[in-house]
Amino acid sequence: MAKTVKAKISINGYIKDLASFFALNGKRKKWIESGSTNVDMSDPVAELAKHLHPGLITSKIVKVTDETPSTKTFTLEPTDGKKLPLFYAGQYISVKYSIDGRTTTRPFAISSSPDLAVKKNQLEITLKKNPGGYVSTFVWENWVEGATVLFDGPHGHIYYNGLRDSKHVVGIAGGSGVTIFRSIANDMLNGSGRPEKMTLVYGSSNASDIIYKDEFDALAAKSNGRISVIHVLSGDVPADWSGETGFITADLIAKLIPDYKTASFYVSGPAALYDAIEVALDKLSISHPNRRIECYGESANITRNKKYPQDNAGKTYTLTVLFGVDKKEIPAISTETVAVALERAGLAVDTQCRSGECGWCRSKLEAGSVWQRPESDGVRARDKDSGYFHPCSAYPTSDITVRVFTRI
Ligand code: FES
Repeated sequence: MAKTVKAKISINGYIKDLASFFALNGKRKKWIESGSTNVDMSDPVAELAKHLHPGLITSKIVKVTDETPSTKTFTLEPTDGKKLPLFYAGQYISVKYSIDGRTTTRPFAISSSPDLAVKKNQLEITLKKNPGGYVSTFVWENWVEGATVLFDGPHGHIYYNGLRDSKHVVGIAGGSGVTIFRSIANDMLNGSGRPEKMTLVYGSSNASDIIYKDEFDALAAKSNGRISVIHVLSGDVPADWSGETGFITADLIAKLIPDYKTASFYVSGPAALYDAIEVALDKLSISHPNRRIECYGESANITRNKKYPQDNAGKTYTLTVLFGVDKKEIPAISTETVAVALERAGLAVDTQCRSGECGWCRSKLEAGSVWQRPESDGVRARDKDSGYFHPCSAYPTSDITVRVFTRI
């Protein structure tokens, strides 16, 4: 008797399930018919990723501002519908050029604050003229309002991190290296999460070379003591000059910054500045975690570097380039980087920092030897063991064979 009841319950349940299933077909049909034909295929995560990493951006110059007789600020705005990526004050972009059929890149610090990018979808870069310079000449002749500029980014590691850095940041700038501090100073007045205090020690050759003088004065005035700028002139000193003179040394830093021992140092400027400031920071026993040194860009004259093997100067070697199954032999001048040799031959390897730090141009040295500039040698120990190097900061010291992986 009990067995019969159990069987009836199971059969009833089965028939109910079947009925519900067939009823579902009808409901489904109605739902489909009443649904929208506009299907939302957007993917918010992919959209965010695209916004953070938009890749190559096509922009136009919307404004050119003369800062000094030899320095201009260019305001760029995307024309390809892209939003400028978010960046930290202190980072840089990599500008792509095609000059006379040769492709190359140059890193330029973003001189505007992140705020301008968020509010107006614009950013600024400030360039100093380098008479006779391959790219500088092109820029001065062609970068006018309306001209197109291609770039990607942001890149770079000089930006404030409250977990890593002290509340007091000491900026040491030389020449156009001051651009990152304009971005940082403007950003400091925009909200929290920035340094509590910044003291900028800014070295220029002459008073007429000082960039953003009035803007820094105005920022300091409205910062409630958070921003101070100390100018140091190393060349001609005007009769009415009341600032510092000479070069930025350990003694000068100790005199100007009483709490230097606990401050974080950001250094940005030409190669000559790095050598001097490294010595000064060593003398002041500033630990390496408290130093951030931005040295993007190539050395204008590598033979001035005391560590460069001087007997290597004036030679031309043969560079055998391997890319996939292609093989080509080109000349390589001993005082030019391997990256420049590749660019001269129309075989440009992709670059960003052009100083050996970021690893973007990482290539393999299959044969021969190079001298890698030690100040910004970012080649990892494991890479060195396996023969990898950074062509943007390496100079040939023999005939070499190089395998490249990225091309532009
Ligand atoms: S471009 Fe950055 S390491 Fe060569």
